[in-house]
Amino acid sequence: MNQLRRRGHWLSVRLVFLAAAVAVSAGAEPPPIISGAARFHPVFAPNGMAATQERHATEAALQVLEEGGNAVDAAVTAAFTLSVTLPRAGALGGGGFMVVHLAEEDRTIAIDYRETAPAAAHRDLFLREDGTADPAKSRFSALAVGVPGNVAGLLHALESYGTIDRGRALAPAITLAEEGFPVSKDLFDSLVIAAPRLFRDPAAREVFYTRFAAPRAIGETLRQPDLAETLRRIADEGAAGYYTGPVAEKTIDFLRERGGIMTLEDLAEYRPVERPTVSGTYRGHTIHSMPPPSSGGVHLLQILKMIEPEDIGGMGFGSARSIHLMAEAMKRAYADRSVHLGDTDFVDVPLSELLDPDYLARCMADFSPRAATPADEISPGNPLHPAEGDNTTHFSIVDAQGNAVSNTYSINFSYGAQMMAPGTGVLLNNTMDDFSAKPGTPNAYGLIGGEKNAVEGGKRMLSSMTPSIVLDSEGAVFLVTGSPGGSRIITTTLQVIVNTVDHGMNIAEATAAPRFHHQWLPDYLRVENGFSPDTLEILRGLGHEIREMDAMGSTQSIQSSGNWWTGASDPRRPDAATLGH
Ligand code: DON
Repeated sequence: MNQLRRRGHWLSVRLVFLAAAVAVSAGAEPPPIISGAARFHPVFAPNGMAATQERHATEAALQVLEEGGNAVDAAVTAAFTLSVTLPRAGALGGGGFMVVHLAEEDRTIAIDYRETAPAAAHRDLFLREDGTADPAKSRFSALAVGVPGNVAGLLHALESYGTIDRGRALAPAITLAEEGFPVSKDLFDSLVIAAPRLFRDPAAREVFYTRFAAPRAIGETLRQPDLAETLRRIADEGAAGYYTGPVAEKTIDFLRERGGIMTLEDLAEYRPVERPTVSGTYRGHTIHSMPPPSSGGVHLLQILKMIEPEDIGGMGFGSARSIHLMAEAMKRAYADRSVHLGDTDFVDVPLSELLDPDYLARCMADFSPRAATPADEISPGNPLHPAEGDNTTHFSIVDAQGNAVSNTYSINFSYGAQMMAPGTGVLLNNTMDDFSAKPGTPNAYGLIGGEKNAVEGGKRMLSSMTPSIVLDSEGAVFLVTGSPGGSRIITTTLQVIVNTVDHGMNIAEATAAPRFHHQWLPDYLRVENGFSPDTLEILRGLGHEIREMDAMGSTQSIQSSGNWWTGASDPRRPDAATLGH
């Protein structure tokens, strides 16, 4: 351990030295020296930067930035590339959210390209005859598939805020699908885990597996000719290439043969929506994040406001006092989520009331620094264990003009519904499970949804995705961040913000620091490996049930540091990369 630390220290020293030497020789102002005590170093670059969960996508985005494209150009290029190189999360058959900061206009917008329920969906769609919720239907049947939003949303962003043409944005994806790329260990591992179900899907089997459910070997070239063809259609015809014509027909034929209810009209009528961001302040910074149908922004801001009166920085990172306070705030926010949140195009969400500082102060009125409030005293419910599933993906991109994109998108589970319509190369989502199959019954992440998140034709299912942009007191981009991780997305994003703003960590430290999570129900405090046993003992003494579980999230973040961008990919995922120029 000591040896490892020493090696890390020398590597860090060399990196800082190298970065400063490069900057000085290029005549640029040198990057800020990060103290010798820093445990981890971010990537530095003066102009633009891309942080994604997969190396090819980062490289493709960086090339667009280097050619003079803006952050939106690079973001759309990265997203289409991930549809090829990170198929378990970035597949075209999913949906997501993009927050864009337009520096020149000093405006931040949110693009909602979340999946919608097919028109024929209804609140009892996922119930068994006895009235209980049937997770097999909402997660692994053709009914689990929501109308995908990715293609429409990404092209909307490009056409509205980008500068390059569609063909350029799709070019790296088309090449990688056609010519292939080497299977990484991470991709291989994800295919091993998905094999029991994914191998049973004939089209997916042909792409990803050899005989006997063995994935293509590490280092073998993975080619996806059908996906290349679909991407080429999109490059030629725009969204119509996906939502109408042969790709749409093959998708609908496939789903209907399996008992699905999605129609050609559902696909043809899919539209992304631009929404005002949900915004608030935290210690002099302005946070812009995703409004409903994501719950992410609302609860991120709720938690920040609940903890703002206290001196989190003074308590110190990892102290029992700060973890206790933040966990108690998390519980109260997630309790609200179970009742008040849903798609605002269909139901009323009392946004301003939920974010009202007086209300949030009232929520914390019964907070005790000496004892955890049991979940059932916050609001009634049934404890259940959240399932693991880490297969959404986030990326952050900034450019030389100060524009920023924070994007999280998903097909829900790893490889989504684990279904691929033959001839399309497109993996389909199982995001319908994010609806409350039966209000009050938890979804795959143990999240309780309320009446407002009941299934309804055309409605968007509630999400936890929290792509966020934090501005400094001058209105310039301070931090771009977000994460996958199901219900843990909100608290993971929160901790990157608190680690940078309150604890003064650089972005690499803020990313690597151990995380914790509480979602009200089930009533336990989930912690990653890395907290002091003494701290955990104190937390137990306050009444928290502590469970040390798998790593949470995969943040891809960029922070401004003087005239430099600093970025960090989460070390929790092996293929991620941050590059700048
Ligand atoms: O939208 C949501 O909240 C979920 N469908 C996200 C799923 C997820 O993050 C899976 N794992 N990383």
